[in-house]
Amino acid sequence: MAVFRVGENIFVLETESFQYVLGVGSDGLLRHLHWGEKVQAKDFEIKVFDDINSNHSYLDVICQEYSPFGGKLFRDCAFKCQFSDGVRDAVFTFKDYSISDNTLKILLCDVHYQLEAELLYTVYADCNVIGRKAVIRNTGGNSILCEKIMSAELSFPEKCEYEIINSNGTWCGENQIVKQHLSGGSISFESRKGTSAHGNAPFFIANPCSENSEKVLFGVLEYSGNFKVTVSRDGFGVTRAMLGVNDFDFSVSLKSGEEFSAPWVYFGCSESLNEVSRIMNRFALKHIFPEQFREKPLPVLYNSWEATGFDVTAESQKELAEKAAEAGVELFVTDDGWFGERKDDFAGLGDWYVNKEKFPNGLSELITHVNELGMDFGLWIEPEMVNPDSNLYRAHPDWIYNFKTRTPSLMRNQLVLNLTKPQVKEFVFDFIDRLLGENNIKYIKWDMNRPFSEPGAENLENGKELWFLHTMAVYDIVDRLKKKYPETQFESCASGGGRCDYGAFRHFDEVWTSDNTDPVDRIEIQNGYALVNPTKAMRAWVTDVSAAPVSFKFNIAMQGALGIGMNLFSCDKETLALMREYVTLYKEYRDVIQFGDRYALMNLKDHMLNAVEFVNEKKNKAIVFVAAVHTKCMHRYFKVKLKGLDADSRYLVQIGEKKFQKSGSYLMNAGIERYFYGDYKNEIWTVNKISD
Ligand code: GLA
Repeated sequence: MAVFRVGENIFVLETESFQYVLGVGSDGLLRHLHWGEKVQAKDFEIKVFDDINSNHSYLDVICQEYSPFGGKLFRDCAFKCQFSDGVRDAVFTFKDYSISDNTLKILLCDVHYQLEAELLYTVYADCNVIGRKAVIRNTGGNSILCEKIMSAELSFPEKCEYEIINSNGTWCGENQIVKQHLSGGSISFESRKGTSAHGNAPFFIANPCSENSEKVLFGVLEYSGNFKVTVSRDGFGVTRAMLGVNDFDFSVSLKSGEEFSAPWVYFGCSESLNEVSRIMNRFALKHIFPEQFREKPLPVLYNSWEATGFDVTAESQKELAEKAAEAGVELFVTDDGWFGERKDDFAGLGDWYVNKEKFPNGLSELITHVNELGMDFGLWIEPEMVNPDSNLYRAHPDWIYNFKTRTPSLMRNQLVLNLTKPQVKEFVFDFIDRLLGENNIKYIKWDMNRPFSEPGAENLENGKELWFLHTMAVYDIVDRLKKKYPETQFESCASGGGRCDYGAFRHFDEVWTSDNTDPVDRIEIQNGYALVNPTKAMRAWVTDVSAAPVSFKFNIAMQGALGIGMNLFSCDKETLALMREYVTLYKEYRDVIQFGDRYALMNLKDHMLNAVEFVNEKKNKAIVFVAAVHTKCMHRYFKVKLKGLDADSRYLVQIGEKKFQKSGSYLMNAGIERYFYGDYKNEIWTVNKISD
């Protein structure tokens, strides 16, 4: 059983490898008791004590499951509100619980006001992940203004210091791993841009700094808007994490009978940092991705953006498509430029009619051609935006976010549409519905190319709700479209990887990882992405950026969902044939890459070599991507030890023309030694089991 109760007041959540225990003290407070190896939960005693001295309140010292701002809580809180009588103090005590399937619901109520906090915990036992969130409900007659509603508070099991891992990126530099030693105080990661954005990411990994082999902890938030992840260590050595919607410029007014359901957090613990990535990869494949494409491999795509920019015409796209088909591409995507008066980024967004000059016969001429070449067709849109130079804006200047006394700031010459207005949301749904209804479109690249500014929405009583409502509107539109067009894939893009998070993985089938397609930069971007994000969703293109050889570019791009963005007009026959060879190899091993376990074996910083291995579930097929940007200082021989194979089985290893057989134990413990000298040296190794 994954969820059970022990005695009167202890609740146990159990996955295959770890346990999470909470309990109710005689003071009615819901306490965190354990997160780690399995123990006999009946042995827990819940100590109820008073302040330890006149400076340290018991509320600051104990670990609650969900601490509201109130009473003598001086540290960071998970929840803060103001009641209609001006009181800004909440006290949650245990009221009730229920257990059904793998979900525990705990109901906490304020001791005076009719305010409920329902905490939900869902156990994914075989994935070693627990999901949790909070639902805040106003069951009274008067409105309550909630100013902070975190999804989860997590108290760390050890008093040791932790190294906290997140990302600190930029546009074209997403997923740059940062590791910060937290001795005391707080570290926060957040977004204030409307999307999860390119900077920090909505997760944490906590690596214990301890001589004992304590577990690596992690938590991931399923949300694509402004988020906040704070990890704090107090003076007594206790570390706590809070994950949820950012309380910056946030509040929710709950009227009588209304509730706010915070996004899910998924958390767990593991033996190693590397294993965290595999746990979350398997979990996303099984429980997060939209069902339609969950079990289907993603196709190899071609995207026109880097080849033709805004200069897309039916003729040029048809010609490109012919070349793409020759390279073995399965999905041809026309990017920006096909609609409205779009010649550059100054005009057109919002006018989602096909540009007659560029496509005199509509899109169907191109789509039919693409289909005849044996490929599916995909299209770029940027539904949340409008250019001032557009018919849409001229007709509806009030459809954007703005404050009435301010001039709305332009970024990339565009403004953000107010999706919290029902008519704007319906406009967006309708134009995509029309596009999909009238054309055989099997893929939509949903882009979003600027942060919000002047976040005013005069239609809302409480303007601070717009950040959250906007994100929910995006999810809702995509969900409805996916339901109506189950054969169409959706990609989440926001100037590259600006909306790459578990919220995106829940509603979209894939993400555009970064506008930076330089294969060397991509190594770090991809390695950072893989910390907690699923391989399958990571679109990676081979393009003309960088002087690296085509082999090197494929080596890196094949580590995700492969795409090509080269200008195929300038590709000679030999290059096209070479591309086809790589695409064929990719298709042969795509199941292993997109659905298998990923092992980060070596990295450039520590080893001068990047080596990434994917192994399928049966452990009979693996592929290893080995690449060195520049081997220096007489380092010539590199030994790579594989992982995740069956030790006693024998495998056939193929490296180019060279083939040899070794045992799993040899490959994993002695490794394969190869000679690499020079720039951009790289190899792809395939490993297939030949006997048990
Ligand atoms: C963004 C995307 C790119 C491309 C352009 C088109 O930058 O990230 O991939 O689609 O917009 O304008």
